Amino acid sequence: MSKIIEIRNATVYRGDTKVFEGFNLDIERGQSTAILGPNGSGKTTLLKLLSCELYPVVAKDSYVRVLGRERWDVWELRNHLGIISSDLQSEYLGYVPGRDVILSGYYSSIGTYRHQRFSPEQYQQAKKVLQNLGIEELKDKTFATMSTGQQRRCLLGRALVNSPENLILDEPTSGLDLKATFQYLETVRRLIRQGRTVVLVTHHVHEIPPEIKRVVLLDRGKVVTSGAKVDVLNDDALSELFDTPIHLVDANGYYQVLPG
Ligand SMILES: Nc1ncnc2c1ncn2[C@@H]1O[C@H](COP(=O)(O)OP(=O)(O)OP(=O)(O)O)[C@@H](O)[C@H]1O
Ligand SMILES: [Mg+2]
Repeated sequence: MSKIIEIRNATVYRGDTKVFEGFNLDIERGQSTAILGPNGSGKTTLLKLLSCELYPVVAKDSYVRVLGRERWDVWELRNHLGIISSDLQSEYLGYVPGRDVILSGYYSSIGTYRHQRFSPEQYQQAKKVLQNLGIEELKDKTFATMSTGQQRRCLLGRALVNSPENLILDEPTSGLDLKATFQYLETVRRLIRQGRTVVLVTHHVHEIPPEIKRVVLLDRGKVVTSGAKVDVLNDDALSELFDTPIHLVDANGYYQVLPG
């Protein structure tokens, strides 16, 4: 099986902060994974390694390979990795209407530009994505005038329009109401069943759909545990990770947490 990401002995800085030191992690293709950790544990930093927005300090025996390669043209990589993050949401251009947000996925751009050309098939596909996500009413609404959840759903559409094999999600349901959360989770489940690999980065246990079977616990830049979800997720491990008593409840393959 080929790997989506292979991180070996990586040291990574954000500004002056050393986030990772001697960090190792592998994610195989087809092995949808949830990466769980408290605020500041390094989740978004890890995601930036995946999207080649950050590189590790150059050192012997140290590398980060994304889809088997250490160097990527960022635009080319984005055809293989659909990424949705709150950074993207805050940087996205406000005057772009919903339909064009979806279309911008073809160029991985944060808006559409006059020089970009779209084929009739691409327009058709954008329309289909709007329908599938139940957001046709957003097609003419500008990004700046959408609610947080509406923006989030448009960005999901943007990531899906290209049918990337892999999807990287950073706290995807934050800001979504219950219906939108459930729709979002159903979409993610469907994508995994269709054979996509999803890497979900979160501190919300309820965001992990049953189809994600592997969990990595991250704490202060270190992998604390990684393995099968049923083995990794338990009261003790989560209480330790989040430094507060936690009681985990399992319901139909989903999890919820309560104060311990
Ligand atoms: N631009 C930056 N400059 C300096 N330090 C940073 C920067 N961005 C993040 N950090 C630091 O890097 C560490 C990891 O941050 P990161 O954003 O990866 O955490 P996270 O797990 O995504 O947290 P959250 O759950 O709050 O999103 C933190 O200690 C943070 O303070
Ligand atoms: Mg983060």
